[in-house]
Amino acid sequence: GSAVNRRPLRSCGATAALSVALLLSACTGGARGAAGSGGVGDPLFPSLGNGGYQVGHYGLDLDYDIKKRHLDATAEITATAKADLRSFQLDLQGLRVTEVQVDGEDAEFSRKGHKLTVRPAEGLRKGAEFRTRVDYDGTPQAMTDPDKTTEGWVKTRDGAFVSGEPAGSMTWFPGNNHPGDKATYDFTLTVPKGYTAVANGELRSERTAKGHTTFRWHNGRPMASYLATATIGKFEVHTSRTPDGLPLYVAVDPAEAKASKEALEQLPEIVQWESKLFGPYPFSSSGAIVDNTPARIDWLALESQTKPVYAGAPDTVTVVHEMAHQWFGDSVTPKTWRDTWLNESFATYAEWLWEEHEGGKTPQQQFDALYKDTAPTKRWDFPPGNPGKAKNVTGTPVYERGAMLLQELRNAVGDKTFFTILKQWPAKYRYGNADSADFIAFCQERTDVDLTGLFDTWLYGKGKPNRVY
Ligand code: ARG
Ligand code: ZN
Repeated sequence: GSAVNRRPLRSCGATAALSVALLLSACTGGARGAAGSGGVGDPLFPSLGNGGYQVGHYGLDLDYDIKKRHLDATAEITATAKADLRSFQLDLQGLRVTEVQVDGEDAEFSRKGHKLTVRPAEGLRKGAEFRTRVDYDGTPQAMTDPDKTTEGWVKTRDGAFVSGEPAGSMTWFPGNNHPGDKATYDFTLTVPKGYTAVANGELRSERTAKGHTTFRWHNGRPMASYLATATIGKFEVHTSRTPDGLPLYVAVDPAEAKASKEALEQLPEIVQWESKLFGPYPFSSSGAIVDNTPARIDWLALESQTKPVYAGAPDTVTVVHEMAHQWFGDSVTPKTWRDTWLNESFATYAEWLWEEHEGGKTPQQQFDALYKDTAPTKRWDFPPGNPGKAKNVTGTPVYERGAMLLQELRNAVGDKTFFTILKQWPAKYRYGNADSADFIAFCQERTDVDLTGLFDTWLYGKGKPNRVY
């Protein structure tokens, strides 16, 4: 495409023909969550996402030159307008946008921070389905989270390690970058021959021509943008099936092969075991991507849908953790970034159940050890149901205190109801979104025990909670 933004948005002063309301929303970013502009008003990440439309599908066509670190890409986004829209915004950080079309017609666009504002030639009517095509290129840059971790498109020796929690997806594709808007995805990834490009879902084809290989991946179930990956490198690829017949695709950087062998060999058993605990595995395939990443990535893994990414060789409990997220986080996704405890508490509790299954401590013993622990800890720093600050989005309380809450819940409702909850929660909200209020109501409907005190204390109370059960 051409180097310049060919049809820049008119300056706000020149939009006299627009109504005042549209002007406000187009030029000031509008009220929190206003249709078409701003962000969706997330409590922790208010600038992410857009409330004006719902995406149905992303078609991402990426061509990556590994030597030059150059990405040449097109995104085709099919969405439905939730209100009459004169303009709307996508999230995209960095890179150069060369052209935007809506329903086949050139659209005006402008950029500010990570907001790409698109003004279609014709306004969009509420309920209308529309297709946006964005041509873009450049060198994707990783980003630093409020918690100082690195995410997004992270350069590796031989390609890129691509992860997106919470905001990193916008470093490599334009979209409605908020967990509240889930969509299906197709990826067409072209890399130099000899390299492998791995995305979510199932590999539809792999074709080599003129020194390049194109991998087509199809992710047919709704997915939050933070769970998308397109990890590229030299990988050893192993395909297999679980005893139930679920296809597995495992890509491992040769430098991590030895150290990850033991954990990856248990993947089929882990998926099978979790399917008994949490109900049927929600997707059509599973797997893992184990990469060799720069040392500045100081976190280990992300539960990318169907294919968790590991920044280095994982141990077995980490695989158990990321696979549990396929039910808790991926299939059932938080409505906002305030609700990550709904992901991490269950994934941590799954680790505890696995350790017990392997002959180790019981979850109650894990709880007791953490409760009694007097070493300096961040465990009680904030209530998991109200992390308050963006840097707390995946903080220790979300994991540990969240899992302890689940143990208290188990003690309150009894094993039978608790294990029913572990199955029915992912069944009820399968492929959708849920928040803390949904979970509290869901649990309360299944027991005569009044759970108010338990949730008030463990989810919302300040400081180290008093035991309720
Ligand atoms: N959800 C991931 C896990 O628990 C952690 C991701 C942490 N990433 C971050 N940027 N803080 O497996
Ligand atoms: Zn996790």
